Amino acid sequence: MSEQYKLFTELSKIEQAIVAGIISAYSHPKIQQHDKASENSLAEVNVEEILASELAIVCFAEGLFAGYIRAKPPIVKEKTFRQVGSLVVMNHFRRQGIAGNLVGEVTSLIVEEGQTPFAFSGPASQPTFTRAGYFYALPGELPEDAVSERGNPGMIYPEL
Ligand SMILES: CC(C)(COP(=O)(O)OP(=O)(O)OC[C@H]1O[C@@H](n2cnc3c(N)ncnc32)[C@H](O)[C@@H]1OP(=O)(O)O)[C@@H](O)C(=O)NCCC(=O)NCCS
Repeated sequence: MSEQYKLFTELSKIEQAIVAGIISAYSHPKIQQHDKASENSLAEVNVEEILASELAIVCFAEGLFAGYIRAKPPIVKEKTFRQVGSLVVMNHFRRQGIAGNLVGEVTSLIVEEGQTPFAFSGPASQPTFTRAGYFYALPGELPEDAVSERGNPGMIYPEL
């Protein structure tokens, strides 16, 4: 299967609006509860937040929208942290490594900026973050204002 990974900001305005609508609708608890691979672990996100995300990656496969991930704006403490989230892969394209590639791509971009990536991963995505090199954060390792809306454990990408 041929996949293409693009920065969200490289998409046309119409493509951005369509992707934002899909991710926002999917993140709604009433929609998410029908997806066994979610267990309602995705934090709700609105269209405006998606459109304003300056670091996000979209996957297209077979010419169709297949997956999405974004990084929230940086949290600046003694070092700069960046939360990765809103990870969704469309049902038809799951279990082919797309989530792993999205996590890998966004993590590399954050690390290249000298920032520290972290995530609050739910049960469905925790193995993907572990495979990408993330570890469960130790107490005090994440900034205090980084809070999981869904009560998911924090995972952090170590400085190499
Ligand atoms: C969680 C989610 C993003 C995973 O997406 P995905 O693209 O299926 O993830 P991956 O393909 O990278 O990995 C999923 C599994 O497929 C397996 N896999 C990867 N490539 C594969 C391949 N080529 N052939 C067979 N299996 C494969 C992985 O080993 C992994 O197995 P495991 O979960 O048993 O460890 C997707 O299920 C989803 O969108 N869920 C709903 C939203 C959600 O929960 N998001 C996370 C919020 S924290």
